[in-house]
Amino acid sequence: MKPLVFIMPGNEMIGQPLVNGIQGETGKFILQEFPDGETYIRIISEVQGRDIFILCTLHKPDPKAMQLYFLGNLLRDLKAKTIYLVAPYLAYMRQDKQFNPGEAMTSHYFAKLISSFADRLITIDPHLHRINSLEDIFSIPCQVIHAAPVISSWIKTNFRDALLIGPDIESRQWVSEVAEGADVPYIILNKIRHGDHHVEISSPEIGNFQDRIPILVDDIISTGQTMIQTASQLKKLGMEQPICLAVHAVFSGSAYMDLIYSGIRKVVTCNTIVHESNAIDITQILIERIREQ
Ligand code: R5P
Repeated sequence: MKPLVFIMPGNEMIGQPLVNGIQGETGKFILQEFPDGETYIRIISEVQGRDIFILCTLHKPDPKAMQLYFLGNLLRDLKAKTIYLVAPYLAYMRQDKQFNPGEAMTSHYFAKLISSFADRLITIDPHLHRINSLEDIFSIPCQVIHAAPVISSWIKTNFRDALLIGPDIESRQWVSEVAEGADVPYIILNKIRHGDHHVEISSPEIGNFQDRIPILVDDIISTGQTMIQTASQLKKLGMEQPICLAVHAVFSGSAYMDLIYSGIRKVVTCNTIVHESNAIDITQILIERIREQ
């Protein structure tokens, strides 16, 4: 029996190529809101005994989490074989520590919720910082896919003379892998975050790399402040305007325009979240990994 793929609203861009790539079928279902704002879900396809992939990126996660919870439970009731949640962007991963007394470690609670209705999780470059492995907080098997090979290949094609710059220690894991694949040098800076919109970035030691094209590489752009402050440090050193490259185009509020108007050269992201800055396609690596299941 072919696997069924349920494409949640907003995931159509990679949904159909994914269905074709894994030789599956699109799951038919109705998802709508009652007049009072509650969720209505009805599954039309036959799901009993079948492998199910739910495709849902988790940018702005709260309403999506409720829909997924209902869908996952319904699939269980209808006796689906294995329920895979395919979340190209996994939310809540930065809330992994109690920074102040009484704060919720929402990454743990979110993981518990997902583990309650899915049998497996497949995601791309989750923000693993203080947590070593997703399985430390999820009680289901998790597969992490790295976007580094496709990012490296984009850099190789477009900017062979790049210098990759990671804005903080956490970014080393992505930047080092991308740099190796693209065969370009990299440096890592230090960041102190004073608040959601207030970050301080150390001044880079550029050394012999002054003439290279700076590419700032990070996993997420949210407020854009990490990128904006890093770019401003490069400007002080007289470097060229940088390219800002991230895996996940989260962009809260006016972040994208703030970044564009801050004097950077270009913003480039992967299509784990649909956004006009998407230039690097992760669909193929997602298909390849799913086919290995
Ligand atoms: C956190 O450390 C992440 O890797 C990013 O650096 C961070 O989420 C970027 O956030 P913002 O765009 O709000 O500075």
